[in-house]
Amino acid sequence: MPQHPSSVAPAAVRLLQYTRAEQDEILGGGDDPFGVAATGLRWLSKEDHFGVRQGDRLVAHAGLLRLSVSVDDIETQVVGVGGVAVAPDVRGQGLARLVIAAALEHARTMGPRHAILFCRPPLVPLYQRLGWHPLDEDVRVEQPENRLVTMPLRTMVTPLHDHAHWPSGPVRLFSLPM
Ligand SMILES: CC(C)(COP(=O)(O)OP(=O)(O)OC[C@H]1O[C@@H](n2cnc3c(N)ncnc32)[C@H](O)[C@@H]1OP(=O)(O)O)[C@@H](O)C(=O)NCCC(=O)NCCS
Repeated sequence: MPQHPSSVAPAAVRLLQYTRAEQDEILGGGDDPFGVAATGLRWLSKEDHFGVRQGDRLVAHAGLLRLSVSVDDIETQVVGVGGVAVAPDVRGQGLARLVIAAALEHARTMGPRHAILFCRPPLVPLYQRLGWHPLDEDVRVEQPENRLVTMPLRTMVTPLHDHAHWPSGPVRLFSLPM
């Protein structure tokens, strides 16, 4: 007998595609669902996508891509996490925790020693609860027309491997932010 979707423990899966339609399915079609439009920043699309479905409905997402950065002028790579989204009616149930955990499990296979993300200041405690740490250093990111701007949002990092330690020093992304 088929089970009712809400009686099945949610699981995060890799998504084959994640377009604006899937994002709208989760967050609705508003023009600033992440609350970051005031920054005026341009963002990169993510390359790998993880999601949670309840029945036929996509209710959560986290995306990933590999990025080149420098920390204190030393070049390295990180995994950028972005597009973290949970449908408004199912927030507070651990779905962000679940979908970010699935994304980070994959990120651990990608090579870089850390993941980074950008968030609005009110979300810092949430990400800290999930094991991320805020960076107090300046983080500069690329924008169109070769502009380099200081990221106005908070930057958070989390280790992907045992004993990974984020070095001190200013950070520069060699791309748009994610
Ligand atoms: C931010 C967002 C993804 C959170 O989703 P969610 O499913 O409600 O989050 P979860 O229920 O998984 O909560 C994650 C953890 O943070 C904790 N948490 C939530 N709010 C918190 C707060 N203000 N302070 C401290 N911890 C908090 C939760 O208790 C949970 O920890 P636990 O599992 O140990 O109990 C969701 O509100 C959202 O989609 N917002 C709109 C889009 C957006 O802003 N995305 C963020 C882009 S960076």
